Amino acid sequence: MSNKSVFVCQNCGYESIQWLGRCPSCKEFTTFSEEIIIKNEKNIFSKTISKKSNPSLINDIVSPNYQKIPTDDLELNRVLDKGIVPGSIILLAGDPGIGKSTLLLQLAIQGTIKTLYISGEESENQIKLRADRIGVKNKKCFILNETLLENIFSYLSNVENNHQLIILDSIQTLYSNQIASPIGSISQIRECCSQLLQFAKRTNITIIIIGHITKDGQIAGPKILEHMVDAVLHFEGDKNFHFRILRSKKNRFGSTSEIGLYEMGPQGLSSVKSPSKILISNNFKNLDGCSISCVMEGGRPFLVEVQALVGSAVYGTPQRTANGFNLKRLNMLLAVLEKKCGFKLGKKDVFLNIIGGIRVTDPALDLSVVASILSSSIDLPILKNSCFIGEVGLNGEVRPEQNISKRILEVEKMGFENVFISSINKLNINTKKINIINVSTINELKKNLFES
Ligand code: TYD
Ligand code: MG
Repeated sequence: MSNKSVFVCQNCGYESIQWLGRCPSCKEFTTFSEEIIIKNEKNIFSKTISKKSNPSLINDIVSPNYQKIPTDDLELNRVLDKGIVPGSIILLAGDPGIGKSTLLLQLAIQGTIKTLYISGEESENQIKLRADRIGVKNKKCFILNETLLENIFSYLSNVENNHQLIILDSIQTLYSNQIASPIGSISQIRECCSQLLQFAKRTNITIIIIGHITKDGQIAGPKILEHMVDAVLHFEGDKNFHFRILRSKKNRFGSTSEIGLYEMGPQGLSSVKSPSKILISNNFKNLDGCSISCVMEGGRPFLVEVQALVGSAVYGTPQRTANGFNLKRLNMLLAVLEKKCGFKLGKKDVFLNIIGGIRVTDPALDLSVVASILSSSIDLPILKNSCFIGEVGLNGEVRPEQNISKRILEVEKMGFENVFISSINKLNINTKKINIINVSTINELKKNLFES
């Protein structure tokens, strides 16, 4: 046995032989703590791998044939680009209480794959209670309450326990007796992950691990965790709403462009077929400051409702608040409205809200944000049954959007009559039912915005 003591930055995982006040890597203060690493000479994974180190000609290398196994969760398949790859490690990250355990327990108990669900967070009884609520279909789903990695490996070393998929809830509760650092510390997380990685590659079993997120949206634990695994998925949404989005941040075996949409209900998560119906209220009324836009997430267009409230500032400094929209972008749009449209918003409070608890980054929302702010500041409702799609530039120009035809078809399907788009957009669709209003600047938008 050889003991080694290092100081590790608990924010980014940077190691140093002495304590430092400020991390040279992530520049955070007082994040270093001492961790003792006990390395057993007799490591269970220290089988020497004899690997030739001669380079091969690219044309001589046989293309691997990754057989992706489709899971029973169609949204997850879409996000992972068709399914899980045997021998890969997937990290699922998200805020506490967002539904990570629910999502993966559902995958375990409703699928057809022989699955082992290892939980260090909840007891067997708690898991059973939740499973009963969701409905158990998989007869080959096993539950294990364990947090010591070596015990998990000793169970799995039995050939009869040949699971195809292992789910680990969560990496922060797992520990290895190879390392003396406390559970949840950077060294523990990194060591456990690297041992799991070797295990997955050796046995060709897929492992999905759950990781918590810190307040500022980082995966708790070193960034290195994201580099080690094959795929990183983020589960996001607002806990007060039912709508959830599963995004792929990294995927070594496929594209990361698609997203999964779920709705949290009493029986767990269900796939959302028509997101537009959830995100805008059925009784959407033309009130002042309310407008609709069509954004793209992955390959799917869906409608969102934007609400703005503009009022005289009560305090000296006007307030600007944005829910689900970038505050800096809102300030930029307000500056453009002031300079190019002559609106005096400098002394006004502006509150912006995207309905449904979702966060939108698609710039196509700009036009709808501007329309809502204009409507609220003049106290006039917007032209009935209208939708707004377009990015707004610093000169007040309305810029064209990608996939405009797809978006317009969705708007039409949802029964809207007018759609405001940039005059530069080239359309290759034949729509008679919907009235397309081309605008080149926000001044032009203002002229057409209200009922005449
Ligand atoms: P959970 O999966 O425990 O979140 P995480 O593992 O990300 O911390 O789920 C949290 C919430 O989901 C919990 O507050 C209750 C809610 N929930 C439902 O609304 N319906 C359900 O059927 C289940 C299982 C959970
Ligand atoms: Mg959980």
